[in-house]
Amino acid sequence: MTVAPHFQFHHRTLHAEQVPLTELAEQFGTPLYVYSRHALRDAWESYRIAGQGRKLLVCYGMKANSNLAVLQEFAQLGTGFDIVSGGELARVLAAGGDPSKVVFSGVGKQVWEIEAALQAGVKCFNVESEGELERIAEIAARMGKRAPISLRVNPDVDAHTHPYISTGLKDNKFGVPIEHAPAIYARAQQLESLLITGVDCHIGSQITEISPYLDALDKLIKLIKQLQAQGVQLEHLDLGGGLGIRYTDETPATPSDLLSHVFVALDEHQLGHLEIVLEPGRSMVGNAGVLLTRVEYLKHGDGKNFAIIDAAMNDLIRPTLYDAWHSVEAVEPRPVNPDTPVYDLVGPICESGDWIARDRQLALAPDDLLAIMSAGAYAFTMSSQYNTRPRAAEVMVDGSTVHLIRPREELASLFASERLLPK
Ligand code: LLP
Repeated sequence: MTVAPHFQFHHRTLHAEQVPLTELAEQFGTPLYVYSRHALRDAWESYRIAGQGRKLLVCYGMKANSNLAVLQEFAQLGTGFDIVSGGELARVLAAGGDPSKVVFSGVGKQVWEIEAALQAGVKCFNVESEGELERIAEIAARMGKRAPISLRVNPDVDAHTHPYISTGLKDNKFGVPIEHAPAIYARAQQLESLLITGVDCHIGSQITEISPYLDALDKLIKLIKQLQAQGVQLEHLDLGGGLGIRYTDETPATPSDLLSHVFVALDEHQLGHLEIVLEPGRSMVGNAGVLLTRVEYLKHGDGKNFAIIDAAMNDLIRPTLYDAWHSVEAVEPRPVNPDTPVYDLVGPICESGDWIARDRQLALAPDDLLAIMSAGAYAFTMSSQYNTRPRAAEVMVDGSTVHLIRPREELASLFASERLLPK
């Protein structure tokens, strides 16, 4: 068993759904991102079922994986989107997403981005500062529109996750301190070009327990009561994203674990009428993808053994950036015994930080194929062209059918828009 249900071994070869990864490597080359369409559907289904009978809007946190085909699939299933830039809005529109189900988060919304979002008719701006509130009000007034807003509050709870992806603590740059929220809502009430529709928080990512959410929810419920007393009636409560996935042996809480607790708490406080918005990213796509890579060389040293693979930190930066663990599976595993070497898997980039996995006991030979697991989220979207390496191709597997959803970048395209100085 691997960590990802739709990537399993059949006849001793790792498959994506019904397609052997060996065939995909042959046809498309490596490094290659391979996604499972059924894994996307299953992830959506677990949220849909958890929200059955209640008002729940899932706004997929598309920064996790913004390939148009992924967005298209989710849009067809009925999700909305959590966007953080005008670029992401453009992608949603290009993929056929419904702008009225889009929430716009982010601390640095620029004028043109606010204009584009108002033009498109997004569901809500998740406002992260007083300055932003004033800016949105001005732009909306100028455009003769009313901007739907919700304030992103920082509930000061510890999500018990990596410091780089923990966002709900006082010291983080995100949102406004929850104690300031009533005054900022009062200001928003005075601005006619704003329409207050909700309240929002997002406390972090790869959260495996429910308790940080419930701590945040407690504080939000108190705030909502206080707002009611000052005449602010909200339509929705956005709890952000953050549910974790299994990378190795985690047992993350599921959407129904989370939502069942949330609904009980809201009902207890006579707030069952509120629409719940969630912004899951990782848990929608993380285990729907693998990064397929080939071993180029093996280097056996005194202290360390290196497997030099054709994927690098430009393709998958999570290990070196967050010390993140991704499981590694040999696509056609060879028998492992106590003498099998332990390898660091490293890429061809000229940096010691260019590693994908460390201390893995694997029986390897040059040309072997490896699958870096759980690479559907924050993988391709965080990739770059560092060392002038074309970004990897992406394919979507659906049963036994394979769709190329992004060809490998052509070398010439990497510098096609650059200009030589005049002679
Ligand atoms: N909503 C907001 C406002 C966010 O900032 C994020 C993620 C999400 C939703 C989606 O969170 P998720 O459900 O995916 O945890 N690059 C890091 C993760 C950064 C998360 C940033 N914000 C990683 O590779 O682990």
